[in-house]
Amino acid sequence: MAVVEGRLGGFLIVLTIMGLALPVFFIAPVQGYNRPPPRKNLYVPSDDPGSDSPQQVHISTVGADKMRVSWITDSPSPATVEYGTSPGAYEKSATGSTSSYKYLMYESGEIHDVVIGPLEPNTVYYYRCGSNSGPEFSFKTPPASFPVTFAVVGDLGQTEWTKSTLDHISKANYDMLLLPGDLSYADFDQPLWDSFGRLVQPLASQRPWMVTQGNHEIEKIPVLHSSAFTAYNARWHMPYEESVSDSNLYYSFDVAGVHVIMLGSYTDFDPSSAQYQWLQVDLGKVDRGRTPWIVVLIHAPWYNSNKAHQGESESINMKDAMEDLLYQARVDVVYAGHVHAYERFTRVYKDEANNCGPVHITIGDGGNREGLASKYKNPQPKISVFREASFGHGQLVVANATHARWTWHRNEDSDEAVASDSIWLTSLSSDPACKN
Ligand SMILES: [Fe+2]
Repeated sequence: MAVVEGRLGGFLIVLTIMGLALPVFFIAPVQGYNRPPPRKNLYVPSDDPGSDSPQQVHISTVGADKMRVSWITDSPSPATVEYGTSPGAYEKSATGSTSSYKYLMYESGEIHDVVIGPLEPNTVYYYRCGSNSGPEFSFKTPPASFPVTFAVVGDLGQTEWTKSTLDHISKANYDMLLLPGDLSYADFDQPLWDSFGRLVQPLASQRPWMVTQGNHEIEKIPVLHSSAFTAYNARWHMPYEESVSDSNLYYSFDVAGVHVIMLGSYTDFDPSSAQYQWLQVDLGKVDRGRTPWIVVLIHAPWYNSNKAHQGESESINMKDAMEDLLYQARVDVVYAGHVHAYERFTRVYKDEANNCGPVHITIGDGGNREGLASKYKNPQPKISVFREASFGHGQLVVANATHARWTWHRNEDSDEAVASDSIWLTSLSSDPACKN
């Protein structure tokens, strides 16, 4: 019989073999951090099933001074939003449209979509959706100029970890949330999209949530459901029309001196594709005097030293196709998700450090049900500055035309103010060495 005992982290092991105690010394592996295990899934039920009460309320920015309000009701209700700058006093109203979709046996509720405005920047608005007996919500519009703060989180899902991430984000003073794909992890089970909408409503009804799609949004089933992104496109209408894109899967917008570009990793991206040609035109229109910063979001990371998701065409081929465009345009930061961990690279171009390339950051650590991607390639590549498999979110505070502060906040640090990784960024448009 063999018994193995550990002591003080494993510096001394006693092997007891056939009654003989044999001390064995060894060097314990360096373990700076115990990676947190997955937490259980959540399902958020409807408060009032079958009714016309608004649920899954979320907002997204449209153009310079408008906001899209989206919500779902189980029974028919007018696509009307009443709003104003004082609680209970709605001096304005707007009407939009209602849609629904079918997915196998599932039939969605009434999906309402209303654009309101013009709105004043940095102002709290109170609003009510649908019938005039509904509850009051409120949101704050983003500022028109610096500073502006983004919360950034990918691969959110709906688990106890998601709840922890959302709790942390709710304590941050941010203007807009950016999500680089993988929202609900409904994965064909459509009521989970409804649950996700209810889970995020407290935050997504208060600040614009700007999202792009990940692989979990595709939901295409050969023969049975041949179109992709059905639920995502129906529920998360982003301002693609305003950025002259022909698809909800890629779009851009300006906010307070930052040009944000959302790309689609799971649609065509080669140089002959509509997305590529749209990106080329969009980047060509950026006026760095007006928007000194460019931030891009994708789902599948182009740079990744985690063992997860290596060798996928959405990473390799999209990088091959589009990296030159982003480099020539002097994009400042590229956020990705997909890998369930956090990793920050230095400024990089074609796999090498380059002072005029974007900083690539993987922030796929929102709280999904699949757990963390905790195995890394070793040695750590020189271009990878910080990497850790923990759940969390990031914040980008763009202070002015030249400086921004990026911080990463892990959920296990109970104080939201703690930043586990942080860096000051200087905009490439202000760097004379990177002038094109
Ligand atoms: Fe993903």
